[in-house]
Amino acid sequence: MNSILENNPALAAEIEKVAEVAGYLWQKGWAERNGGNITVNVTDQADEELRGRAPISEPIAIGTTLPHLAGRYFFCKGTNKRMRDLARRPMENGSVIRIADDCAHYEIVADNPVMPTSELASHLAMHEQMIASGNGYKAALHTHPIELVAMTHHAPFLKKDVLTRLLWSMIPETRAFCPKGLGIVPYRMPSSVELAEATIRCLEEYDVAMWEKHGVCAVGPDIFEAFDQVDVLSKSALIYIAARNMGFVPEGMSAEQMGELREAFNLPK
Ligand code: 13P
Ligand code: ZN
Repeated sequence: MNSILENNPALAAEIEKVAEVAGYLWQKGWAERNGGNITVNVTDQADEELRGRAPISEPIAIGTTLPHLAGRYFFCKGTNKRMRDLARRPMENGSVIRIADDCAHYEIVADNPVMPTSELASHLAMHEQMIASGNGYKAALHTHPIELVAMTHHAPFLKKDVLTRLLWSMIPETRAFCPKGLGIVPYRMPSSVELAEATIRCLEEYDVAMWEKHGVCAVGPDIFEAFDQVDVLSKSALIYIAARNMGFVPEGMSAEQMGELREAFNLPK
């Protein structure tokens, strides 16, 4: 069967963005082996052909019920698939799924029967939250940024808002473009529904969720914006580490400088 992208330039454009970001994740060193995953809500790009496609899998249980997702379509990285392969051949290393009307199952509809990421519970929970909030966000990203993950191996950094304040104070952009900061999700089993639930609780308060000793989850209007959130936080982490490597503890921006930014950019406290 032909690729679902063939006569659907709008969907092809979304998948192209995913492939571009997958390449960045590999280049950054954040995507060892199959590390990390991406999902995008492509319901708006689902044309008649996609909607008319017969499923190419049995109904598969999500493990939880997500009432806002009935009939929605998602492009998902495949489980055990590499980001560096997703970058070059997205439709062989990911698939489009449709959520069933019972909101508890999904079917794979295109192009190939590639099983979606093992973190689907977290991804779909993030999409449920984005739709419920009406913020118009469409993309969810989970990745393994080296320096940010390393920081979670140090208990003092796991206390509430310690990392957020440290990262904000390294460079004005992080304060401005990640205004709600980085929340910490205490270690939980990868792929679990408990991890998914803790993630969305964290994202009620913060822009990005940090899974202790594992990776981050970010959301955005599209996959570029989700990537940017992680990239600015990671940049701050690198500045902190560079300073420590030069033998000093970085001063950080002063409370006055931070306050000035808050006013100029109209940022939340
Ligand atoms: P998948 O290959 O199933 O997407 O898993 C990668 C990962 O990072 C799990 O946390
Ligand atoms: Zn992971």
